[in-house]
Amino acid sequence: MSDRVPPIAATPLAPDPGATAAGAEALIRLVGVHKAFGGKHVLNGLDLEVRRGETFVILGPSGTGKSVLLKLLVGLLKPDRGEIWVGRQRVDGARDRELWEIRGRIGYLFQSSALINWLTVAENVALPLSEHTRLRPHEIDQRVDEYLGKVHMLQSKYQMPGELSGGQKRRVALARVLAGTPTIILYDEPTAGLDPVMTQNIAALIRSVQLEFGVTSILVTHDLPCASEAGDRVAFVDGGKVVHCDTTEQFMHTDHPAVRNFLRGGRPVVPGAPR
Ligand SMILES: Nc1ncnc2c1ncn2[C@@H]1O[C@H](COP(=O)(O)OP(=O)(O)O)[C@@H](O)[C@H]1O
Ligand SMILES: [Mg+2]
Repeated sequence: MSDRVPPIAATPLAPDPGATAAGAEALIRLVGVHKAFGGKHVLNGLDLEVRRGETFVILGPSGTGKSVLLKLLVGLLKPDRGEIWVGRQRVDGARDRELWEIRGRIGYLFQSSALINWLTVAENVALPLSEHTRLRPHEIDQRVDEYLGKVHMLQSKYQMPGELSGGQKRRVALARVLAGTPTIILYDEPTAGLDPVMTQNIAALIRSVQLEFGVTSILVTHDLPCASEAGDRVAFVDGGKVVHCDTTEQFMHTDHPAVRNFLRGGRPVVPGAPR
């Protein structure tokens, strides 16, 4: 492909030879996590394990605490009770310096693409590199081109975010995340508001990022085609807990009633009616 440049040597994103989804150890662990806002209990003793190298999907009705869960993982929120682990580091209760280190390993793709409107596409991707690394300007330029190429947005390098479609903005935001060479990526509703073709593109991109870089990802989505395309395992969260968790294939065919109801579009189950 003409817009791809050779990978930068010794990037920490290089695939880990031991990182396969099946049977790998847990890289992210939530144990008995509780979180309430005011009197409202959002998470009620949630347990979750994400294995190294897998893409783990979280599905669930809106308002069940999926975004809260991602924020807990990077220490933007603190749990009321329970433990949150990333590798051997405990996130809850971590000191500022440790949190800084943990966040350095995690790329967070926010629900809104969160691009800065008065900077060009290239400047948006370069910003975290100039703020958080010691790379020299020509190295930053090289890395920006490399990652824009990976998401097929190199041709838009000098455009402003306002000139891009929703899907293109998500791709640029993903390039910005990838350029930081994370080992973990958290995707919060990356296909929200996109048409089915663009959704399929983003899902395929998430899959190819996993295969190329061996990253471990959590993908929060409402979108079943996206979950099927990109996910290795799926958890259904409701009432502040994981209600059901299985491989994507098994999950989509489960007869768990609450999950079936969700998969069928949330239509109420009428007793005795044919399914
Ligand atoms: N910082 C906050 N302060 C107060 N309430 C919050 C805060 N963040 C989330 N909530 C509440 O927690 C619940 C779960 O939110 P969220 O995680 O965004 O749901 P979703 O599953 O749709 O991502 C919602 O009722 C929301 O209003
Ligand atoms: Mg959310």
